[in-house]
Amino acid sequence: MLLCMAYELVQSTRLWYADAGTGKPILLLHGFPLDSRIWDDILPLLTPHRRVITLDLRGFGQSDESPAFSMRQLALDVAGFITLKKLGPCCVAGLSMGGYVAQELASEHPELLSHLILLDTKAESDNTEARNKRIEMAKLARDQSAQAVADQMMPKMLAPQHTPEVEAKLRTIMQSQRTETIAHACIAMRDRENYLNTITSLSFPVDMIVGQHDAISSPELMRFMHQKVNYGRLFEIPNAGHITPMENPQATATAILQSTENL
Ligand code: MLT
Repeated sequence: MLLCMAYELVQSTRLWYADAGTGKPILLLHGFPLDSRIWDDILPLLTPHRRVITLDLRGFGQSDESPAFSMRQLALDVAGFITLKKLGPCCVAGLSMGGYVAQELASEHPELLSHLILLDTKAESDNTEARNKRIEMAKLARDQSAQAVADQMMPKMLAPQHTPEVEAKLRTIMQSQRTETIAHACIAMRDRENYLNTITSLSFPVDMIVGQHDAISSPELMRFMHQKVNYGRLFEIPNAGHITPMENPQATATAILQSTENL
C-alpha cells in the first residue's frame, strides 16, 4: 500500500492527512475524542479497491492546535481540504462526531459531496440534559485530564465482548488528545444544529453503518435515520459497539466497499 502522509494548510491551520489507494476518493472523518488512528485496521482492507484519505480534524491527532471552534468551522475545514486537494464531489464517511461534521458539510456545501456514509452517529441535536453533560465534560478535560475523559467515556464506547487490545488502543488514542481540543469539541457538539432536515433533503445516497451494540448512537436511532433519507443502505455490524472500524474492521470495510461500489 503506497501511503502519502502530509499536512495541508486549511483556514490557517495545518491539517494532517494520509492518502492511499487509487480510484474515486473516500474521505474518512474520525469521532471524539479521537483521531485518524481509528481507521488503521480498515485501511489495508479498503485501499486495494479504493482511494482512501483520512484526516485529523483541527486540534486532534497530528493536526495543529486550535482556538475554540464550532461544528461549522470543522465542516469548513473539510470543505477547504476537499477543494484544495481537488477531491470533490466525493464520498465523505464520518463516525460519530465525524458524522456531525459530515452532515454539517452536507448542509453547507452539498456540491462537494457525491455520497455520505454515516457511521455510529446521530442526526438530531442534543437535548437539555445532553447539552449540560457537554459542559461537565469540557470542565473535566480542563480541570483534570484526557485520561479522566477516557475513563468516563470508555464504558459506552465498545461492545461488551471487546478485546483488551482494542480497548488499550482506543484508550491510547483518547488519552493522547489535547485537553483544550476536547473542551472545544464538547462545546461544538453541544451547539450543533439538528441535521434531520438536511439528510432528508439530499439527492445523493446517504448510507448508515452502526454497531449492533452501539450504546451512544443505537441501531434503533440509525434505523430511524435510514427510514428518513431518500436513498441509502443500512449496515448493522455484529460484535461491535460505537467504534465499528476498530471493533469489527472486516465487516465495517465490507460495508464501506458495498456502499461505494457504484461510486
Ligand atoms: C463520538 O464518538 O464522536 C462521540 O461519542 C459523539 C458524541 O458524544 O455525541
